Amino acid sequence: MVSPQAEAVVDLEAYRHNVATLAAHAPGAALMSVVKADAYGHGLRPVARAARDAGASWLGVVTVEEALALREAGDTGPVLCWLAAPGAAYGAAVEHDVELTASSVEQLDEILNDAPTGRRPRVQLKVDTGLSRNGARGPAWDDLVVAASRAQAAGKVEVTGVWSHLACADEPGHPANDQQETVFRDALDVVGEAGLEPQWRHLANSAALLTRPSAHFDLVRPGIATYGIDPDPAVAGIVDLRPVMTLRGRLAQVKRVPAGTAVSYGHTWTTDRETTLGLVPLGYGDGVLRSASGRAEAAHDGERVPVVGRICMDQLVVDLGDRAARRGDVVTLFGAAPGAPTAQDWATAAGTIAYEVVTRLGDRVVRTHRG
Ligand SMILES: Cc1ncc(COP(=O)(O)O)c(C=O)c1O
Repeated sequence: MVSPQAEAVVDLEAYRHNVATLAAHAPGAALMSVVKADAYGHGLRPVARAARDAGASWLGVVTVEEALALREAGDTGPVLCWLAAPGAAYGAAVEHDVELTASSVEQLDEILNDAPTGRRPRVQLKVDTGLSRNGARGPAWDDLVVAASRAQAAGKVEVTGVWSHLACADEPGHPANDQQETVFRDALDVVGEAGLEPQWRHLANSAALLTRPSAHFDLVRPGIATYGIDPDPAVAGIVDLRPVMTLRGRLAQVKRVPAGTAVSYGHTWTTDRETTLGLVPLGYGDGVLRSASGRAEAAHDGERVPVVGRICMDQLVVDLGDRAARRGDVVTLFGAAPGAPTAQDWATAAGTIAYEVVTRLGDRVVRTHRG
């Protein structure tokens, strides 16, 4: 079969390896595979299945819709979602045994009011320990815990968890990590004093899983590392992670050009010798970051070639030099191919993080799942 002209090959065996490796690094905790944002661009359904196969007891998503997509795909295990504006489909979530997060008394009330008659929602309480995003802090945390404890005593809710999220886990020496962990432990004391005994206390994303055993608690929530990408170059090489996504395109055109040929919009790059240009059918319309223009590399036949000139909406140009190349040859932008750059290399070239490199990919890029 001819492979698609632009393809993200997703290696589910590598994914399962990463999940199992990360679970082994946090032996005292259960593991929640974070599969929000279409499994960081890797494809929700197959990745979720692979996560369960690899032993993830939980799946983590952002929206109720993402959680319901998991149920539609046949997933029946524990799922937590954690960000909702008023009007979210809480009722449907409760009906499908999806656990919800309450970040305020107001939100807890919304969940309780929307729960189908006779169903007791399973809710986890989110404490803001210093990231200043979602979650209750200070007196609002005390109020949330009291309200949740009363609602549980009245049989209206089951409080199953307490959790928070770190701001600087990818900088292991940052003082915010200790501070947030202390605030989290204090918040747990408030919960205990209110008579609640939630089973799941969790704080650690990939970076904290890798570097901060004291933050593992009952459950760890890795996302990026399960996809074989280090959370940050500062937190690299701690365990054996394998890249899950390989992004590649097949050359749509190969042509020999003389020295002095200006390439792509704005003519920002000009050949300094006779050379061969290859046209890769991937561009910023597919999520390839335009800001990596002129700095990123790709791999052709096991060797690095530079991306030259501006990355366009649908295509980019590589300088193949005097290499033997033909229309239809595979050029790998990043991933598990000989000589290929990593997603982090593209992030560095684009001045961003590797999370953005994989999650930005659009629907035009065919996802091919293997393993
Ligand atoms: C609440 C929460 N937990 C866990 C994660 C996973 O983080 P990471 O991908 O850094 O492991 C995320 C992702 O941003 C998140 O928002």
